[in-house]
Amino acid sequence: MAQLCFSRMKVFRSVLIALIFIFLASCSSDEELKIGVSVYDFSDSFITEIRNAILESSEGDIPVTIVDAARRQQTQNEQIEKFIEEGYSAIIVNSVDRTASWVLIEKCRQNNVPLVFINREPVKDDMAKWDKVYYVGAKAEDSGIMAGEIMADYWFSHPEADRNGDGILQFVVIKGETGHQDTELRTEYFIETLISEGIPLEKLHEDTGRWTRSGGYDVMASFLNRSGNAIEAVFANNDDMALGAIEVLQQNGYFNSSEFMPVIGIDGTPAGQAALQNGLLLGTVFNDAENQGKAAYNIAKELAEGRTPTSESIGYPIVDNQYVWIPYRPLAGQED
Ligand code: GAL
Ligand code: CA
Repeated sequence: MAQLCFSRMKVFRSVLIALIFIFLASCSSDEELKIGVSVYDFSDSFITEIRNAILESSEGDIPVTIVDAARRQQTQNEQIEKFIEEGYSAIIVNSVDRTASWVLIEKCRQNNVPLVFINREPVKDDMAKWDKVYYVGAKAEDSGIMAGEIMADYWFSHPEADRNGDGILQFVVIKGETGHQDTELRTEYFIETLISEGIPLEKLHEDTGRWTRSGGYDVMASFLNRSGNAIEAVFANNDDMALGAIEVLQQNGYFNSSEFMPVIGIDGTPAGQAALQNGLLLGTVFNDAENQGKAAYNIAKELAEGRTPTSESIGYPIVDNQYVWIPYRPLAGQED
């Protein structure tokens, strides 16, 4: 009898200890959750807006640590390894080189740390390697079409835009980083849209400004050197490069007098929108950083807490189980 009582007590004691452990674990688990974020370049204006949106979403919620890969894939790989070692619960990545995403996916899969890519879309085959991988971005082709429509509207409503009167639109393109889906698709669909609008085209030059204002400035300076006033329009793959181009155009006498140059950008950054208001930028396409940042954070939070994200739980529609697309919106300035 005494022995039975003793073994019951032992069982009771171990159950009690187990319960205390479970209780303690459940108390502290949410506090220990953390989300790691690595972006390709802290100095990129648009990415800075996304970073701020992620940071804002995390206020009073699972904390984030955001690090700068400074345009080096090797640095980014090390940052992700460190997040994994330090027990981060989910990771958000804006990859330096989107074709290298599989390395990150593999690393995270082996350690069961879910991954949310933003802004630089991994190729489909890589996305298919694991179901705890998501992508939040915008459909690059849409932005190219919208930019093309802004250009076409201007061309049809401003006959003087055809400076040399040959009926052909002579234009230049300042591209983003080579190989980036936004660079290739924006350029391709901008041109396709103009063609489908029936505008005869001649692309005088194209070169990369690497998404930066100074890059846009340098590339436009060299275009002006080579072709001067034969250039009738400028399409820059983002606002920062468009602003760099506008700066060098102003130094060459454009905008000040009657010499207008249609320049189109993409992003609708605060600086881009200011240039639109001032009549320097003909048009831009709003790239919604706030909702991209929020959606990425919400997905990472669900994953960090051990749930499968759903459209309802994150507040944005998930398509093909792994993608969230935030729509673009055209922004055209007042003409004339
Ligand atoms: C694009 C954006 C660019 C640049 C780039 C970085 O979507 O339009 O301004 O931020 O992403 O990957
Ligand atoms: Ca012409």
